[in-house]
Formats: sequence, C-alpha cells, structure tokens
Amino acid sequence: MDVLGGKRHAVPPVWIMRQAGRYLPEYRETRKKAGSFLDLCYTPEFAIEVTMQPIRRFGFDASILFSDILVIPDAMGRSVRFEEGRGPILEPIASEEVDGFVAGNSEWGALAGRLKLVLEAVTGIRAELPDETTLLGFCGAPWTVATYMIAGHSTSDQAPARLFAHRHPEAFQAMLDILADRSADYLVKQLEAGVDAVQVFDSWAGVLDPACFKQYCVKPVKRIVDSVRARMPDARIIGFPKGAGMNYREYAARTGVTALGLDWTVPLDFARELQKQVPVQGNLDPTRLVAGGAALDEGIDKVCEALGDGPHVFNLGHGITPDTPVAHVEQLLRRIRG
Ligand code: CP3
Repeated sequence: MDVLGGKRHAVPPVWIMRQAGRYLPEYRETRKKAGSFLDLCYTPEFAIEVTMQPIRRFGFDASILFSDILVIPDAMGRSVRFEEGRGPILEPIASEEVDGFVAGNSEWGALAGRLKLVLEAVTGIRAELPDETTLLGFCGAPWTVATYMIAGHSTSDQAPARLFAHRHPEAFQAMLDILADRSADYLVKQLEAGVDAVQVFDSWAGVLDPACFKQYCVKPVKRIVDSVRARMPDARIIGFPKGAGMNYREYAARTGVTALGLDWTVPLDFARELQKQVPVQGNLDPTRLVAGGAALDEGIDKVCEALGDGPHVFNLGHGITPDTPVAHVEQLLRRIRG
C-alpha cells in the first residue's frame, strides 16, 4: 500500500498473478473437492482456502481474492462454464441481444445475489490474513470481458470481438458502458467488504489498433476509475493493459489509475519513464520462473536494478503457469528478499 502511495521500498513488495493456481498441489486438492472451477469461486469456504494457500506457503506481501473476471458476465446472465483443457465457454452474444443485456443489468441488484458469495469470501479472507498482508480485489476491464462474451471461448487474437466492434459500434459501446458501470459497482463492493486495493485486468489490450485502444481500453477503464473514485476518493487502482506497448503512456496519463501493471515485453528503460508518472508493478517473463536457474536470477536482477530507484511492486508480467516448479517460486523470493 506504501508503494501504491508512491513510496520506494529497498526490498520491493512481491506477489504473483494467479499465485493461487494449478502449480500448487494444495490448490489441485481443493479444486478436486470443489468440483467445478466456478463452484470453487462461489463457495466462500473454498475461495478463502485457496486464496490463503500461497500466503501460508510463501508469505507473499499481497494476496489476491480467488475468483475470475468472468463472474461478471456470469452474474449478468451470460452463463459461463469452464471446461478442462479448453478454458471458459459462454454462449456468444449476438448484436441483437445487447439491448436486452443492457436493460437487464441497469442496476447492481441484478448481479448482487450471485456475487454476494464472492464478497463473503473477501470478508473471510481479510479476517484470516496477517494484518501486514495486502488484500487485492479485481475485475476484468470491459474490453477483455467483452472479448470472451463475443467469441464464447478463448482465441489467439480476439478477432471476433474486434470484428463485432467494427460491424456493430453502437451495440459494442453499449456493452462496454454497462460492463464498466457494473464492474465499478463490483469494485466498490469489494473495497467495502475489505480489499485494500483493486486491479483491473485488461489482458487483451495488446490486440487493438491505436484508435480502438483509446475507445475500448482507455475510456472504459477511465469510466470505472471515475465511478469508483466518485464514491471512494482514495481508492487505489492498479491498471494492467497487457501488451499495450507504446500505448502504456497514454493509458497512464488518461485513465487515472494509481499504478501500472507492466507485461514482460515492456522495455525496462521505458518502464523507468512510466515510473516517473505512476508506481509500476511487474514485469518478469513467467517462462523465466518455469526455467529457474540463471535465467530466473538474471531476469529478477534486471527488473529490480531498473525499477529499484522508484515505487515498484515486484510481479510477473502475466500469470504464473501450471508447469512452474514450487522450488522456483522459493528461489524468486530468496533472490528478491535476500
Ligand atoms: O491472480 C489470482 O491468483 C487470482 C485469481 C484469478 C484467476 N483468474 C483464477 C483462475 C484472476 C485474477 C483471474 C483473471 C482472469 N481470468 C483473466 C485476466 C488475467 C489473465 O490471466 O490474463 C482472464 C483473461 C481470465 C479468464 C480465464 N479464467 C481463462 C482464459 C481461464 C482458463 C485458463 C487456463 O489456463 O485454463 C480461466 C481459469 C482460471 N482462472 C484458472 C485460475 C486459477 C485455472 C482454473 C483451473 O483450476 O482449472
């Protein structure tokens, strides 16, 4: 929280995106007990347990609520399921369905019943966490959530959503607006329930041309930030527009986020420039953590040397992958903390 407030710490705080996940045997155990992935998210007892697992094992400086960005479309009536080996599956939304989708979700109350279970988990996690461990909440950015709603599954380049945006700009804008408004409500509820700060994941920011980046990434995230701050002026919000490249500068200047999550392709000299505007988080390539050894140590040292003079939260440049050895996470913490 200090670093998000603009302070520098000689040893940067560290957490890992997807730190509660399949690389941990205790996660796989709980996941089996829960049944489906969404049952894990919607059963507070299980969500609390898996959120705590990486904190107990590694003592990260921050924990992140165990949930998924797709609980928002799920709670908005576009039911989501997760298939082994395929990831999320949704019924693709057609342009003619957007009016109904918007009308049915004009108030937070439409989502409240389902997401109450996530908010219960937040309160439970805060009660179990050590006082000095930050609890992060999150949501998906409207663009990234919309890509899954439109394609109905993971794709390599989100061409279906890009095409939808060009063919049906009004319906697409209406979708982004309603996603932004309900996501802002959701973040406020998470902050009220006990999270210390929130992160907005825009994992697919990197596939848009500059005009679309402005319209579909910058503006909707600004809408979320403004809406949250209108109710909670001190809210700390980390923006993570993965793959945004040169557009990171505009995103930092225009969205109003407190801090920037950097993916591993961001050059460290450019990262230092961005760090003059806002605190930064990142940005080790997750495959260095899989490889371990010198590849890991060298990667960590480069990131810490480049960003160590300013406010920096150490993280990967994207989520940890299931093939990561637990011993390499231990190596990472030893290298950073000494
Ligand atoms: O960071 C954390 O530890 C918090 C939990 C978290 C998950 N997903 C758990 C999860 C968070 C913050 C997310 C965000 C999320 N979900 C994003 C944005 C961040 C990113 O990683 O890009 C996106 C795009 C999703 C959508 C999603 N959820 C996909 C595409 C998948 C399938 C991925 C895969 O590798 O199978 C998921 C499932 C998911 N969400 C898992 C976890 C731990 C794996 C589920 C399992 O146990 O089978």
